[in-house]
Amino acid sequence: MTITERQFDASWGRTVHCGAVSGDLEGTTVVLNGWLRCRRDLGGIIFLEVWDHSGTVQVVLNPERNPAVHERAKALRSEFVLALKGVVSRRPEGTENDEIPTGLWEVLVDDFLLLSPSAPLPFEMDSADEVDETIRLRHRYLDLRRPRMQENLRVRHRASLYTRTFLDGEGFIEVETPMLTRSTPEGARDYLVPSRVNRGAFYALPQSPQIFKQILMIGGCDRYFQIARCFRDEDLRADRQPEFTQIDLEMSFTSEEQIIDLLERYTCGLWRQIAGCVLASPFPRLTWREAMDRYGSDKPDLRIPFALVDVRDVFEGTEIKAFGAVLAGGGVIRALPLPGGASLSRKEIDGVNGRGQELGAQGLAPFQFRDGQLKGPLVKFLDVERQSRLIETAGLKEGDALFVMADPSWRKTCEVLGQLRLELARSRGLVDEKAWAFLWVTEFPMFEWDEEEERWVAVHHPFTAPMADDLDRLETEPGSVRSRAYDLVLNGTEVGGGSIRIHDPRVQEKVFGALGFTAETARERFGFLLDALSFGTPPHGGLALGFDRLVMLLCGARSIREVMAFPKNQRAQCVMSGAPGTVDEAQLRELAVKVDDEL
Ligand code: AMO
Repeated sequence: MTITERQFDASWGRTVHCGAVSGDLEGTTVVLNGWLRCRRDLGGIIFLEVWDHSGTVQVVLNPERNPAVHERAKALRSEFVLALKGVVSRRPEGTENDEIPTGLWEVLVDDFLLLSPSAPLPFEMDSADEVDETIRLRHRYLDLRRPRMQENLRVRHRASLYTRTFLDGEGFIEVETPMLTRSTPEGARDYLVPSRVNRGAFYALPQSPQIFKQILMIGGCDRYFQIARCFRDEDLRADRQPEFTQIDLEMSFTSEEQIIDLLERYTCGLWRQIAGCVLASPFPRLTWREAMDRYGSDKPDLRIPFALVDVRDVFEGTEIKAFGAVLAGGGVIRALPLPGGASLSRKEIDGVNGRGQELGAQGLAPFQFRDGQLKGPLVKFLDVERQSRLIETAGLKEGDALFVMADPSWRKTCEVLGQLRLELARSRGLVDEKAWAFLWVTEFPMFEWDEEEERWVAVHHPFTAPMADDLDRLETEPGSVRSRAYDLVLNGTEVGGGSIRIHDPRVQEKVFGALGFTAETARERFGFLLDALSFGTPPHGGLALGFDRLVMLLCGARSIREVMAFPKNQRAQCVMSGAPGTVDEAQLRELAVKVDDEL
């Protein structure tokens, strides 16, 4: 087959998008440009479904209308690129398709141009959701031709447009910061780039523009934002990519309240514009401690209608030996209620217990509230008064269950029960999938102890300001210092994080000290920041939203890969282009890099 019989010129340029064919055009000649999605030959008539990003439309080639054109159409296959000319006509009665917007109409073709054929497809376009993701990623150009991917990319585009307009209106300016930079410590490994000119020296790709945006504040920019690419070499998950995008912003002379207010107005506007829904604001706020205590997570999913409860009082002074020992050692007794859990079978209860043990619990004591009575192996240790106190404290209703955990560690208990809360809610359909549950988590601990490195590490990053009330404990009790950090959480996903920053170089030096940096290391790594801070620094703060995660949630996608045009797979590879790849010996030599396979 000849690839292009005639030249594609202006006369073949589209006059209407496929998805926009409507009754307004009835009887007129239109030109469509697009891909052939499917072809059906019925009773000598050829029906084509022609697709472009706006949708599909049915076109009809009738031998009676133009026998030569009909003959040529017999050779057309899926995903061939076509320009078609024809007349818009109402479909005969009974053949309408109410599943697509153009379903009342068809285009009766008088002529068409084959612009480009397609090799046989590696997967059916209609069933791509069931296809192995690697195949979709390898042939991303085909995958992108599917309506859902097009919709996701367009939502992403509209969200970034909204972001720029909104922030511009609030007095922010977009400033680009370097891609080739020094490592900024966000806690992940860096991607390094060897320098040819400076043999043996490496740039790091930015994990975020953190230090640069602070320096922009010192530089008098007042309000900065950037839709910024960030790079982190960390374990990948559904909501993590090695290369991802942040809506990064920073403000001078600001406070937590101002940043939170700005972000709530931004988010409500974005949801109104894109999801067409009105969010309730202000968003709820929990301190980190409250979030852990009630939900066992620093990113609680508030769509789940049950939370952890403290049942220590109920069990204090009972004969239950294991609980007594835990309490004597200063431990905790907490519980997870499960609505409807009284119907769990013995085996299912054992399953929950087993899962609890996998997560680190010694065991979970189950209770079921059935026929007005509390049931379970520990009920015999509780008198009637304690039983009713347990029911009341846990808010149990007829038909519910309760899992009680006693452990020396408050944090571990909360985390185990919090994880079970998520898993049980998901497996038992107790998550309100239609809700948008935003919240702020505040007052994070400033540091946490890293067992491997045997030192305190920053929970957010080392430039986060400690809370004023805790400043005097920076050196003596770093574990008890709270920070002026805040995370924005949506439906159990951390969609953003930020803080008020340290603007006093003396406090910054103390924080470096608490992190175990000697004065020399701090100087060597961050001297430029300490210098900058000493030249007149406005109080400042900001936040970065995970743009991919926001768009993923807006689109109802299961992974951020669904809202990125060219994501990496779980091994950080681009299976389409083959990155990362090996390079020539000569190129390595020039960079003074040696690859040692043995290491
Ligand atoms: P943080 O490290 O919390 O803060 O990152 C901000 C937000 O970016 C998103 N995110 C990711 N998204 C996809 N893939 C990843 N690997 C990934 N890592 C993080 C999350 C997260 O909430 N400089 C600070 C911000 C600040 O303090 O202003 C920072 O980067 O949604």
